[in-house]
Amino acid sequence: MLVLGIETSCDETGLALYDSEQGLLGEALYSQIELHAEYGGVVPELASRDHVRKLLPLLQQLLTDSKVKLSAVDAIAYTRGPGLVGALLVGSATAQALALALQRPSIGIHHMEGHLLAPLLEDPAPQMPFVALLVSGGHTMLVQVQGLGHYQLLGETQDDAAGEAFDKTAKLLGLNYPGGPELARLASSGVAGRFSFPRPMTNRPGLDFSFSGLKTHTRLLWQRHQDATMDAAAKLQLQADIAAGFQLAVVDTLTIKCRRAMQQTQLQQLVVSGGVAANQALRSKLQQVGSKHGFKVSFPRLAYCTDNGAMIAYAGCLRLTQSHLQAAAPAMRTIDARPRWPLQELEP
Ligand code: KG4
Ligand code: ZN
Repeated sequence: MLVLGIETSCDETGLALYDSEQGLLGEALYSQIELHAEYGGVVPELASRDHVRKLLPLLQQLLTDSKVKLSAVDAIAYTRGPGLVGALLVGSATAQALALALQRPSIGIHHMEGHLLAPLLEDPAPQMPFVALLVSGGHTMLVQVQGLGHYQLLGETQDDAAGEAFDKTAKLLGLNYPGGPELARLASSGVAGRFSFPRPMTNRPGLDFSFSGLKTHTRLLWQRHQDATMDAAAKLQLQADIAAGFQLAVVDTLTIKCRRAMQQTQLQQLVVSGGVAANQALRSKLQQVGSKHGFKVSFPRLAYCTDNGAMIAYAGCLRLTQSHLQAAAPAMRTIDARPRWPLQELEP
Protein backbone atom coordinates (compact mmCIF):
# COMPACT_ATOMS: atom_id res chain seq x y z
CA MET A 1 0.00 0.00 0.00
CA LEU A 2 1.40 3.38 -1.03
CA VAL A 3 0.46 6.21 1.35
CA LEU A 4 0.89 9.93 0.78
CA GLY A 5 1.48 11.72 4.09
CA ILE A 6 0.74 15.41 4.64
CA GLU A 7 1.96 17.36 7.69
CA THR A 8 0.86 20.98 8.22
CA SER A 9 0.26 21.27 11.97
CA CYS A 10 2.62 24.17 12.63
CA ASP A 11 5.43 25.83 10.68
CA GLU A 12 6.65 23.01 8.47
CA THR A 13 4.97 21.83 5.28
CA GLY A 14 5.94 18.16 5.06
CA LEU A 15 5.02 15.53 2.47
CA ALA A 16 6.17 11.96 1.99
CA LEU A 17 5.36 8.73 0.19
CA TYR A 18 5.59 5.57 2.26
CA ASP A 19 5.06 2.13 0.79
CA SER A 20 4.23 -0.83 3.03
CA GLU A 21 6.57 -3.08 0.98
CA GLN A 22 9.35 -0.75 -0.13
CA GLY A 23 9.47 1.76 2.71
CA LEU A 24 9.98 5.46 2.14
CA LEU A 25 9.90 6.40 -1.56
CA GLY A 26 10.43 10.12 -1.19
CA GLU A 27 9.82 13.19 0.90
CA ALA A 28 9.64 16.96 0.63
CA LEU A 29 9.82 19.54 3.39
CA TYR A 30 9.50 23.30 3.48
CA SER A 31 10.31 25.10 6.71
CA GLN A 32 8.73 28.49 7.41
CA ILE A 33 11.49 29.51 9.83
CA GLU A 34 12.51 32.60 7.83
CA LEU A 35 8.91 33.75 7.55
CA HIS A 36 8.36 33.76 11.32
CA ALA A 37 11.89 34.79 12.41
CA GLU A 38 11.22 38.53 12.36
CA TYR A 39 8.27 38.06 14.76
CA GLY A 40 10.25 35.89 17.18
CA GLY A 41 7.72 33.04 17.01
CA VAL A 42 5.13 31.34 14.82
CA VAL A 43 2.36 33.68 13.56
CA PRO A 44 -0.60 31.32 12.99
CA GLU A 45 -2.22 33.25 10.14
CA LEU A 46 1.06 33.53 8.24
CA ALA A 47 1.65 29.83 8.79
CA SER A 48 -1.73 28.90 7.27
CA ARG A 49 -1.24 31.15 4.26
CA ASP A 50 2.20 29.71 3.60
CA HIS A 51 0.91 26.14 3.76
CA VAL A 52 -1.68 27.16 1.13
CA ARG A 53 1.12 28.51 -1.07
CA LYS A 54 3.57 25.63 -0.65
CA LEU A 55 1.56 22.44 -0.34
CA LEU A 56 0.65 21.73 -3.97
CA PRO A 57 4.00 22.78 -5.49
CA LEU A 58 5.72 20.55 -2.92
CA LEU A 59 3.43 17.66 -3.82
CA GLN A 60 4.32 18.13 -7.47
CA GLN A 61 8.01 18.18 -6.60
CA LEU A 62 7.68 15.05 -4.46
CA LEU A 63 5.92 13.12 -7.23
CA THR A 64 8.47 14.21 -9.84
CA ASP A 65 11.50 13.49 -7.65
CA SER A 66 10.25 10.07 -6.58
CA LYS A 67 8.93 9.22 -10.08
CA VAL A 68 5.54 8.29 -8.72
CA LYS A 69 2.24 9.09 -10.45
CA LEU A 70 -0.47 10.56 -8.24
CA SER A 71 -2.79 7.79 -9.44
CA ALA A 72 -0.45 5.21 -7.86
CA VAL A 73 -1.22 6.54 -4.38
CA ASP A 74 -3.48 4.11 -2.50
CA ALA A 75 -4.38 6.28 0.51
CA ILE A 76 -3.82 9.72 1.96
CA ALA A 77 -2.80 10.39 5.56
CA TYR A 78 -2.85 13.89 6.99
CA THR A 79 -2.23 15.46 10.37
CA ARG A 80 -5.65 16.02 11.92
CA GLY A 81 -4.32 17.53 15.15
CA PRO A 82 -3.17 18.74 17.59
CA GLY A 83 -1.78 21.98 16.17
CA LEU A 84 -2.75 25.37 14.77
CA VAL A 85 -6.30 25.14 13.46
CA GLY A 86 -5.78 27.13 10.25
CA ALA A 87 -2.61 25.22 9.41
CA LEU A 88 -4.30 21.88 10.09
CA LEU A 89 -7.27 22.82 7.91
CA VAL A 90 -5.00 23.41 4.91
CA GLY A 91 -3.61 19.87 5.16
CA SER A 92 -6.98 18.34 5.92
CA ALA A 93 -8.77 20.08 3.03
CA THR A 94 -6.01 19.20 0.58
CA ALA A 95 -5.96 15.57 1.71
CA GLN A 96 -9.73 15.23 1.44
CA ALA A 97 -9.84 16.90 -1.97
CA LEU A 98 -7.13 14.56 -3.27
CA ALA A 99 -8.85 11.55 -1.75
CA LEU A 100 -12.14 12.52 -3.34
CA ALA A 101 -10.60 13.17 -6.75
CA LEU A 102 -8.64 9.90 -6.70
CA GLN A 103 -11.43 7.94 -4.99
CA ARG A 104 -9.03 6.73 -2.32
CA PRO A 105 -9.41 6.45 1.45
CA SER A 106 -8.04 9.14 3.73
CA ILE A 107 -7.02 8.98 7.35
CA GLY A 108 -6.50 11.73 9.94
CA ILE A 109 -3.37 11.14 12.04
CA HIS A 110 -2.57 12.39 15.53
CA HIS A 111 0.59 14.48 15.24
CA MET A 112 2.06 13.06 18.46
CA GLU A 113 1.40 9.51 17.28
CA GLY A 114 3.43 10.46 14.22
CA HIS A 115 6.29 11.54 16.49
CA LEU A 116 5.86 8.44 18.63
CA LEU A 117 6.19 6.12 15.63
CA ALA A 118 9.00 8.07 13.90
CA PRO A 119 11.81 6.05 15.60
CA LEU A 120 10.36 2.95 13.88
CA LEU A 121 11.41 4.38 10.52
CA GLU A 122 15.01 3.55 11.47
CA ASP A 123 16.78 0.27 10.81
CA PRO A 124 16.84 -1.69 13.07
CA ALA A 125 13.49 -0.46 14.33
CA PRO A 126 12.84 -0.57 18.09
CA GLN A 127 10.28 -3.20 19.06
CA MET A 128 7.07 -2.57 21.00
CA PRO A 129 6.33 -2.56 23.89
CA PHE A 130 8.38 0.49 24.81
CA VAL A 131 8.29 3.72 26.74
CA ALA A 132 8.18 6.85 24.58
CA LEU A 133 9.46 10.22 25.71
CA LEU A 134 7.78 12.79 23.45
CA VAL A 135 9.41 16.20 23.67
CA SER A 136 8.26 18.82 21.21
CA GLY A 137 7.35 22.49 21.13
CA GLY A 138 3.83 21.83 22.40
CA HIS A 139 4.09 18.57 24.36
CA THR A 140 6.21 16.76 26.90
CA MET A 141 4.99 13.32 27.81
CA LEU A 142 6.02 9.85 28.82
CA VAL A 143 3.84 7.18 27.24
CA GLN A 144 3.78 3.43 27.71
CA VAL A 145 3.28 1.91 24.26
CA GLN A 146 2.01 -1.68 24.21
CA GLY A 147 1.09 -1.66 20.54
CA LEU A 148 -0.29 0.58 17.82
CA GLY A 149 -2.93 2.79 19.50
CA HIS A 150 -2.38 1.22 22.94
CA TYR A 151 -0.98 4.28 24.63
CA GLN A 152 -0.98 4.84 28.36
CA LEU A 153 0.05 8.27 29.55
CA LEU A 154 2.58 7.92 32.38
CA GLY A 155 3.31 11.59 32.89
CA GLU A 156 3.18 14.98 31.20
CA THR A 157 4.11 18.58 31.74
CA GLN A 158 2.02 20.66 34.09
CA ASP A 159 2.93 23.90 32.31
CA ASP A 160 5.45 24.58 29.51
CA ALA A 161 6.58 21.86 27.13
CA ALA A 162 10.33 21.16 27.01
CA GLY A 163 10.68 22.74 23.56
CA GLU A 164 8.60 25.72 24.64
CA ALA A 165 10.92 26.19 27.64
CA PHE A 166 13.92 26.10 25.28
CA ASP A 167 12.27 28.63 22.96
CA LYS A 168 11.14 31.03 25.71
CA THR A 169 14.48 30.86 27.50
CA ALA A 170 16.31 31.51 24.23
CA LYS A 171 14.11 34.51 23.60
CA LEU A 172 14.77 36.07 26.99
CA LEU A 173 18.50 35.55 26.43
CA GLY A 174 18.08 37.56 23.23
CA LEU A 175 18.58 34.66 20.80
CA ASN A 176 16.88 34.38 17.44
CA TYR A 177 13.86 32.22 16.63
CA PRO A 178 13.76 29.23 16.58
CA GLY A 179 15.29 29.36 20.01
CA GLY A 180 15.82 25.67 20.88
CA PRO A 181 18.60 24.85 18.40
CA GLU A 182 20.16 28.34 18.90
CA LEU A 183 20.28 27.87 22.66
CA ALA A 184 21.78 24.38 22.25
CA ARG A 185 24.49 25.80 19.97
CA LEU A 186 25.34 28.52 22.48
CA ALA A 187 25.32 26.04 25.38
CA SER A 188 28.15 24.07 23.77
CA SER A 189 30.55 26.95 24.52
CA GLY A 190 29.26 27.53 28.06
CA VAL A 191 30.22 26.24 31.50
CA ALA A 192 27.16 24.41 32.81
CA GLY A 193 28.36 24.42 36.42
CA ARG A 194 28.83 28.20 36.77
CA PHE A 195 25.28 28.69 38.02
CA SER A 196 23.07 26.22 39.83
CA PHE A 197 19.68 25.34 38.35
CA PRO A 198 16.86 23.29 39.90
CA ARG A 199 15.74 19.90 38.51
CA PRO A 200 11.99 20.56 38.84
CA MET A 201 9.72 17.87 40.30
CA THR A 202 12.49 15.28 40.56
CA ASN A 203 12.54 15.07 44.36
CA ARG A 204 8.96 13.86 44.57
CA PRO A 205 7.46 10.68 43.15
CA GLY A 206 5.68 10.62 39.81
CA LEU A 207 6.44 11.17 36.16
CA ASP A 208 5.04 14.65 35.55
CA PHE A 209 7.18 17.60 34.52
CA SER A 210 7.22 21.34 35.07
CA PHE A 211 9.49 23.68 33.13
CA SER A 212 8.09 27.15 33.69
CA GLY A 213 10.09 27.66 36.92
CA LEU A 214 13.36 27.00 35.06
CA LYS A 215 12.53 29.76 32.64
CA THR A 216 11.94 32.22 35.52
CA HIS A 217 15.15 31.08 37.20
CA THR A 218 17.02 31.81 33.98
CA ARG A 219 15.46 35.26 33.63
CA LEU A 220 16.51 36.22 37.17
CA LEU A 221 20.09 34.99 36.60
CA TRP A 222 20.35 36.87 33.32
CA GLN A 223 19.07 40.10 34.90
CA ARG A 224 21.16 39.80 38.05
CA HIS A 225 24.51 39.08 36.40
CA GLN A 226 24.49 41.61 33.60
CA ASP A 227 25.98 45.01 34.25
CA ALA A 228 26.63 48.08 32.16
CA THR A 229 30.42 47.78 32.38
CA MET A 230 30.47 44.30 30.87
CA ASP A 231 32.29 43.96 27.52
CA ALA A 232 30.81 41.95 24.65
CA ALA A 233 32.97 38.88 25.31
CA ALA A 234 31.99 38.70 28.99
CA LYS A 235 28.33 39.12 28.08
CA LEU A 236 28.55 36.33 25.50
CA GLN A 237 30.24 34.07 28.05
CA LEU A 238 27.52 34.85 30.62
CA GLN A 239 24.85 34.06 28.03
CA ALA A 240 26.58 30.77 27.09
CA ASP A 241 27.06 29.72 30.73
CA ILE A 242 23.39 30.35 31.50
CA ALA A 243 22.35 28.48 28.34
CA ALA A 244 24.56 25.51 29.30
CA GLY A 245 23.18 25.42 32.85
CA PHE A 246 19.61 25.61 31.60
CA GLN A 247 20.14 22.88 29.00
CA LEU A 248 21.77 20.56 31.52
CA ALA A 249 18.88 21.11 33.95
CA VAL A 250 16.32 20.15 31.26
CA VAL A 251 18.39 17.16 30.13
CA ASP A 252 18.92 15.91 33.71
CA THR A 253 15.23 16.33 34.54
CA LEU A 254 14.09 14.44 31.44
CA THR A 255 16.68 11.72 32.06
CA ILE A 256 15.71 11.21 35.72
CA LYS A 257 12.04 10.81 34.72
CA CYS A 258 12.89 8.43 31.87
CA ARG A 259 14.89 6.22 34.17
CA ARG A 260 12.01 6.25 36.65
CA ALA A 261 9.54 5.31 33.88
CA MET A 262 11.75 2.39 32.82
CA GLN A 263 11.90 1.13 36.41
CA GLN A 264 8.15 1.56 36.90
CA THR A 265 7.16 -0.24 33.69
CA GLN A 266 9.97 -2.81 33.74
CA LEU A 267 10.35 -2.33 30.00
CA GLN A 268 13.73 -2.49 28.25
CA GLN A 269 13.24 -0.09 25.37
CA LEU A 270 12.95 3.70 25.46
CA VAL A 271 12.24 5.75 22.33
CA VAL A 272 12.67 9.51 22.27
CA SER A 273 11.04 11.72 19.67
CA GLY A 274 9.82 15.25 18.88
CA GLY A 275 11.92 18.34 18.15
CA VAL A 276 13.86 18.31 21.44
CA ALA A 277 15.02 14.75 20.67
CA ALA A 278 17.37 16.46 18.19
CA ASN A 279 19.27 17.91 21.17
CA GLN A 280 22.73 16.29 21.26
CA ALA A 281 23.18 16.72 25.01
CA LEU A 282 19.91 14.87 25.62
CA ARG A 283 20.79 12.13 23.13
CA SER A 284 24.16 11.39 24.70
CA LYS A 285 22.94 11.61 28.31
CA LEU A 286 20.08 9.19 27.68
CA GLN A 287 22.37 6.76 25.82
CA GLN A 288 24.79 6.86 28.72
CA VAL A 289 22.11 6.27 31.37
CA GLY A 290 20.45 3.58 29.23
CA SER A 291 23.64 1.56 28.90
CA LYS A 292 24.40 1.96 32.61
CA HIS A 293 20.95 0.78 33.70
CA GLY A 294 20.26 -1.84 31.05
CA PHE A 295 17.69 -0.30 28.73
CA LYS A 296 18.00 0.47 25.03
CA VAL A 297 17.45 4.01 23.81
CA SER A 298 16.38 4.78 20.21
CA PHE A 299 15.95 8.09 18.46
CA PRO A 300 14.85 8.97 14.95
CA ARG A 301 17.50 10.56 12.73
CA LEU A 302 17.64 14.33 13.30
CA ALA A 303 15.37 15.17 10.34
CA TYR A 304 12.61 12.95 11.77
CA CYS A 305 12.81 14.41 15.30
CA THR A 306 11.29 17.69 14.12
CA ASP A 307 8.08 17.86 12.08
CA ASN A 308 8.08 15.99 8.77
CA GLY A 309 5.78 14.23 6.33
CA ALA A 310 7.47 10.82 6.62
CA MET A 311 6.16 10.15 10.12
CA ILE A 312 2.60 10.96 9.02
CA ALA A 313 2.80 8.76 5.91
CA TYR A 314 4.27 5.96 8.03
CA ALA A 315 1.66 6.28 10.81
CA GLY A 316 -1.08 6.31 8.15
CA CYS A 317 0.33 3.20 6.51
CA LEU A 318 0.52 1.33 9.83
CA ARG A 319 -2.98 2.39 10.79
CA LEU A 320 -4.43 1.35 7.44
CA THR A 321 -2.62 -1.98 7.24
CA GLN A 322 -2.60 -3.05 10.90
CA SER A 323 -5.45 -1.53 12.83
CA HIS A 324 -9.18 -2.00 12.76
CA LEU A 325 -9.72 1.71 12.33
CA GLN A 326 -11.45 2.41 9.05
CA ALA A 327 -10.26 5.08 6.69
CA ALA A 328 -12.91 7.67 5.88
CA ALA A 329 -15.18 6.37 3.14
CA PRO A 330 -15.85 8.93 0.38
CA ALA A 331 -19.42 9.67 1.54
CA MET A 332 -18.36 10.37 5.13
CA ARG A 333 -15.59 12.79 4.35
CA THR A 334 -15.40 16.03 6.27
CA ILE A 335 -12.66 18.59 6.36
CA ASP A 336 -11.82 18.38 10.00
CA ALA A 337 -9.09 19.40 12.36
CA ARG A 338 -8.64 18.87 16.10
CA PRO A 339 -6.39 21.63 17.46
CA ARG A 340 -6.64 20.00 20.90
CA TRP A 341 -6.64 16.23 20.85
CA PRO A 342 -5.45 14.13 23.82
CA LEU A 343 -3.28 11.20 22.66
CA GLN A 344 -5.11 8.91 25.09
CA GLU A 345 -8.29 9.27 23.01
CA LEU A 346 -6.73 7.26 20.18
CA GLU A 347 -8.06 3.78 19.63
CA PRO A 348 -6.08 0.67 18.75
O1 KG4 B 1 8.37 18.47 16.98
P1 KG4 B 1 8.63 19.86 16.59
O2 KG4 B 1 9.35 20.12 15.30
O3 KG4 B 1 7.30 20.69 16.52
C1 KG4 B 1 6.26 20.49 17.42
O4 KG4 B 1 5.49 19.53 17.24
O5 KG4 B 1 6.23 21.31 18.37
O6 KG4 B 1 9.44 20.52 17.80
C2 KG4 B 1 9.88 21.83 17.76
C3 KG4 B 1 10.55 22.15 19.08
C4 KG4 B 1 10.86 23.62 19.24
O7 KG4 B 1 10.47 24.04 20.51
C5 KG4 B 1 12.37 23.66 19.07
O8 KG4 B 1 12.99 24.73 19.72
C6 KG4 B 1 12.79 22.34 19.67
O9 KG4 B 1 11.79 21.45 19.22
N1 KG4 B 1 14.12 21.92 19.21
C7 KG4 B 1 15.18 21.82 20.02
C8 KG4 B 1 16.27 21.42 19.21
N2 KG4 B 1 15.81 21.30 17.92
C9 KG4 B 1 14.49 21.61 17.95
N3 KG4 B 1 15.31 22.00 21.34
C10 KG4 B 1 16.53 21.80 21.89
N4 KG4 B 1 17.62 21.44 21.18
C11 KG4 B 1 17.55 21.23 19.85
N5 KG4 B 1 18.64 20.86 19.16
ZN1 ZN C 1 5.82 18.07 16.14
